[in-house]
Amino acid sequence: MNLNNEINQFNPNTLVGKASMPPASWYSAQAFYELDKKTIFNKTWQPVVRISELAQPETYKSGCISGIPWVIASNKNGELKAFHNVCRHKGREVVTGQGTAKDGMLTCGYHGWQYGTEGDLKRIPRQDKSLLDFDKSTMGLKPMALEVWGHWVFINPDSSAKPLVGSLSTLNEQLEARNWTKLKYHSNKTWNIGCNWKVYVDNYLDGGYHIPHMHPSLNDQLDMSSYRTEIFENYSIQSSPPTKKDNSVQGLSAQARIGDGSIYAWMFPNFMINVYGDCLDINLVQPIDENNCRVYYEFYFLNTDDNGFIESSIRQSDITQQEDIEICESVQVGMKSGHYSPGRYLPNIEQGEFHFHKLLFNNYHQ
Ligand code: FES
Ligand SMILES: [Fe+2]
Repeated sequence: MNLNNEINQFNPNTLVGKASMPPASWYSAQAFYELDKKTIFNKTWQPVVRISELAQPETYKSGCISGIPWVIASNKNGELKAFHNVCRHKGREVVTGQGTAKDGMLTCGYHGWQYGTEGDLKRIPRQDKSLLDFDKSTMGLKPMALEVWGHWVFINPDSSAKPLVGSLSTLNEQLEARNWTKLKYHSNKTWNIGCNWKVYVDNYLDGGYHIPHMHPSLNDQLDMSSYRTEIFENYSIQSSPPTKKDNSVQGLSAQARIGDGSIYAWMFPNFMINVYGDCLDINLVQPIDENNCRVYYEFYFLNTDDNGFIESSIRQSDITQQEDIEICESVQVGMKSGHYSPGRYLPNIEQGEFHFHKLLFNNYHQ
C-alpha cells in the first residue's frame, strides 16, 4: 500500500457538497494506526487526569496514549509537570499506575535510577568514576506540555505544542454559561469497541443524522429540526434544544434530562464533552489498534445525591452507547470488507465529519 496515495484519495480543498469521504484504508490499515500515532497522538492535547486526582503534593499518575507512556508528577508545592514515562537508562516505564513520589523521587523499578518531580535525574545506584563523559543535567525525563482546563489536566507529548486553552474561546464561553465547573464528578466507565477510533468519532460528528434511526429514545427528547453544528479551528459544537413534546424516557421528561438543550462538543482529535440539563459526561476515544478502540466515560452531576435521577440518566446513556457500539462495529465490518468505496457527505448535516477529515489530512501531511 502506498501511504501517500491513500492519504491523497481524500480531497480537503473542495466544497463539502462535492467532497468524497476518506477511503477504507484510513480506518482499517495498520499503516494508518502508526500514522495516527506519529502525526496525531504525538502532537495533540489529551485529557488524562482529573485535577482532583493529583491534589496531594509529591504524588504521580501514569498511563499510555496510543503507545506513548506519560507520567504527571506534583512537586512539594503541588505544581504539576508531565513527562515521557521512559527511563533514560534502558527505557523501562519509570513508574506504573499512580502513587506517592517517596522523598520527592520517581524511582525506576528496573535498576533504581531516581528522578525528581521536576524530571531531573538525581541519583544513579552504584555509579562510580568509571562512568565517563556523563552529564547528569542532560539525562532528565523528557518533558511533555501540560495545561489545566475545566475538570482535567491535559498533556501533549510535543513539549513545544501550541497552547490549548487560548484556542477554545467559544467552547469555553458556552460551557461556562452552563456552569460546567460546578458539576461534580460521579463515576466513570470504559467500553472496548471493535472499531477504529475514527469510526467512533465520525459517528459522533454526523450532525445527528443517525439519531432518528439508531437512538429512538434520544430522538424523542431532542428537537431534531433545530439540531445544528458550529465549526471552529480545532473543535466543533453540535447542539439541540429539548423537544417541546411531552415525552419522557427512563422516567425522565425531556425537559428534566435535556434542560436548556444539549451541547455535544468535540475537540480534535478524540475528546467529547456532552452537556445536557444538570449533567455532563465525557467520552475519550483511544486507539488500541487499527480495528479496536477504547472509550472512557466520566459522569458529572450538579446534585450527586439525587440517586434516582443519576441512575436513570446513566441508564439512558448506556442505552445510547450500546446503540452506537452496534453501529460502529458494523461500520468497521464494511471498512474491512474490501468493498467500500468512499461515500458522500450530506452537506447540510455532516459538515462536522468533513471538518474532522480535513484536520486528519492536514496532520498526515505535516
Ligand atoms: S531502565 Fe530505569 S533504571 Fe534501568
Ligand atoms: Fe449515536
